[in-house]
Amino acid sequence: MELFDRPDAGEKALIVHLSINESFSEDNLNEFIQLVISANVEPVITIKGSRRTPDSRYFVGKGKLEEVKHQLHATCADVVLFNHTLSPSQQRNLEEALEVRVLDRTNLILDIFAQRAKSFEGKLQVELAQLQYLSTRLIRGWTHLERQKGGIGLRGPGETQLETDRRLIGQRIRQIKSRLEKVNKQRDQGRRSRQRADVPTVSLVGYTNAGKSTLFNALTDSSIYVADQLFATLDPTLRQVKLPDYGELVLADTVGFIQNLPHELVAAFRSTLQETIAADLLLHVVDASSMNRQEQIHEVNSVLKEIGADEIPQLMVYNKIDQLPAVSAHVDENDIGEVKAVWLSAMENDGVNLLLESLSTLCHEESTRTRLVLKPNQAKLRAQLFEVAQILNEEINEDGCWVIEINISKKYKYLLDGI
Ligand code: GTP
Repeated sequence: MELFDRPDAGEKALIVHLSINESFSEDNLNEFIQLVISANVEPVITIKGSRRTPDSRYFVGKGKLEEVKHQLHATCADVVLFNHTLSPSQQRNLEEALEVRVLDRTNLILDIFAQRAKSFEGKLQVELAQLQYLSTRLIRGWTHLERQKGGIGLRGPGETQLETDRRLIGQRIRQIKSRLEKVNKQRDQGRRSRQRADVPTVSLVGYTNAGKSTLFNALTDSSIYVADQLFATLDPTLRQVKLPDYGELVLADTVGFIQNLPHELVAAFRSTLQETIAADLLLHVVDASSMNRQEQIHEVNSVLKEIGADEIPQLMVYNKIDQLPAVSAHVDENDIGEVKAVWLSAMENDGVNLLLESLSTLCHEESTRTRLVLKPNQAKLRAQLFEVAQILNEEINEDGCWVIEINISKKYKYLLDGI
């Protein structure tokens, strides 16, 4: 057993959701229930209530605690999940009083992240986030752990063990950070060489469960993991896609955005999110059948702003139109004929071709196809073009000049000025 393993969460969960100071959001609760299902746990009962402020010992009041205890026995639930952030001592007091595992919202999200991480980098990021969360708990839980020598996970004299644990955690955190730096460098190099070859990068962004992975699959014909679970995609996955009449582009699937994503997690997944920032175009995938679609669009845009990606052009993709009987696959254009949104069903592969065509149009607008004749003394310019443009064809004519056909993006067209 590894140092930080903990017993598996039970199969059946009792959920606690309080309205604190009269702020109760049914959406937030529904989203939490979806998260619970994503963690492969069955929510059996939800206990609601309201308080002006959380109780310092148990978060809930005495009466509510009794209700939770009673329902735990009645439903045979084996884990209690709070849709709140619990302090370490509240969590411990609750576990003692209820004699089952108690997890808060961050614990649950970390768990889901841990289950979903696929790449080496994703796994490291999850471990780092878990350790950082754990280390704040160890420090804050210091006095309680010290008093309660021999408690769970504390072999030997509390204080010494705690210091050892903290030192080990510190070491592991440093080790992970340095590995992550190396992986980041490799990723940066990949990104730079893509930019050099001027292959446009398109990132799929969207609220969790919008259908990004399904669309990614439909676009690439690949078969990455798709499930009706939040965060099915934790690691950005990059694929080459061939566009009709254009050429290649790189498509990046990114992590799903979610309301109230704990801040430390946004930080932990920064480098994953960086893939988003480096894109030339964002495909903003929306679950068009969701009642909350405007809020979700807004939420995604505010995360994009937070990571500095709000200036990147967006193409809206309204997915799941098979759930909207009155809508068929189509493209929305603005007054001057620019593509603004594509309505489709990724699952039924209806309208995916419209998206590919729109992407092709957008990429063409961004770049120009042209034919050049370069003299033998223009070898330096030719080398530059090979760096930044897409070379479609090259021949040498009878005068010893290069005849080159290229696709070059707007931003490098100045190179052709002197020819
Ligand atoms: P995260 O990884 O959590 O960010 O999710 P995602 O946005 O990648 O969503 P994913 O592709 O995993 O799809 C979520 C669910 O929506 C799955 O159950 C899909 O089968 C379903 N889904 C995706 N596209 C469509 C669609 O066009 N129509 C319908 N009805 N369901 C769809």
